[in-house]
Amino acid sequence: MAIKPLVILPDPRLKQVSEPVGVVTPDIRALAADMLDTMYDAPGIGLAAIQIGVAKRVITIDLAKQDEDKNPIVFLNPEITWESDELGIYEEGCLSIPEYYEEVERPAVVKVRYMDLDGKAQEIEASGLLATCIQHEIDHLDGVLFIDHLSKLKRDRCIKKFAKQAKERERGA
Ligand code: NI
Repeated sequence: MAIKPLVILPDPRLKQVSEPVGVVTPDIRALAADMLDTMYDAPGIGLAAIQIGVAKRVITIDLAKQDEDKNPIVFLNPEITWESDELGIYEEGCLSIPEYYEEVERPAVVKVRYMDLDGKAQEIEASGLLATCIQHEIDHLDGVLFIDHLSKLKRDRCIKKFAKQAKERERGA
């Protein structure tokens, strides 16, 4: 398995809507393994397949702290089936928007239906950081970034900054 290059803002692939997974093939298992390798290497707590350039509805999450055992969860075709009226605020970041952090308000508790790597249907109720992380990653599958939840002013400023950095990288290459 392999660490893959991350897709970075303002790459247009981040706006793409990802396709559902049909059956769990060896390719899907390999994709999930690559995503976990890439996520741990970054390091990050969540990743969507499009962030390594694959437009499939696959997300990986691991909230274990550095001194804890790994606890990866792979969600195929995750869908929010219920969300609380109560909201929670977390400072969010994204491996596709490196070193940029802002507070985002989202439902504090969600129920999520998904398929696991054995092809079995699962449903979990998530709260706290896990709820925020799942919503952030599912957003990626629909081409939505956490900066889309910010004011237009903040979002535009962020995109401008990353567009400038991308140009500088191109010139350097
Ligand atoms: Ni992200």
